[in-house]
Amino acid sequence: MQPTMNTIKTTLKKGTVLIAAMGLSTIINLTHAQDAAPDMQKLQQMMNKQISLMKPELQEKVKALSPQTKKLLLGIYGAHSRHSDKVTLRQVMHEAQSDYQSMLVGVLTDNQEQAADSARRLANHRIPIGGLLPYLDIKFINDQGLSALAGFNDAVEGNALRLADAADQGDMIKASSLVGTITNGCFSCHAMFRGVPGKSQLLR
Ligand code: HEC
Repeated sequence: MQPTMNTIKTTLKKGTVLIAAMGLSTIINLTHAQDAAPDMQKLQQMMNKQISLMKPELQEKVKALSPQTKKLLLGIYGAHSRHSDKVTLRQVMHEAQSDYQSMLVGVLTDNQEQAADSARRLANHRIPIGGLLPYLDIKFINDQGLSALAGFNDAVEGNALRLADAADQGDMIKASSLVGTITNGCFSCHAMFRGVPGKSQLLR
């Protein structure tokens, strides 16, 4: 699936058909990831800690999330072994970008080991201080907005893990074909949750 900027905009307006479709497979994947997660109690504690760091207006939105959305977030957090108490989402993105580029070099130079290791690092990127939610516009902190987040996450991380497996097996044709779907996941998430970085308030 390769949505263009226009289809994304239309989809977002029309009520996120595309994103819902992407989200469904993720819910299933994350549910599996969660089943495999060793310690639900530990995850719950971690999420409570994140909530305690949030300002009251965000706390309120997080507490209003459905159990299903909370489960989804726990699934995302549970799939990551690195949780930082310092770095921001922007810093996480800078590091993810480096891993993405290293993965790409591995694919382009037929270096299966570099491609696989970098893709796994990308999939297991750090979770920033406070989790993902404090860095998103508060208008997205509701069940519908966050279901989209899950779909993008799988587009990047699920496919990065698939790319790593393909590279392990020496199937660099398959690995290279997954680069596009990963890139599409980065792009789509940015189109919804980020917009253009560094826009100036001093331009008309
Ligand atoms: C789950 C959604 C999501 C996914 C998936 C995602 N990003 Fe991001 N990205 C964001 C958000 C949100 C920001 C803005 C963060 C901020 O400014 O606080 C961002 C910002 C960035 C930035 C700009 C950092 C800056 O200094 O402004 C880069 C570079 C970046 N992402 C790279 C990537 C790459 C590469 C991928 C895919 C491998 C990716 N992102 C996948 C949500 C996402």
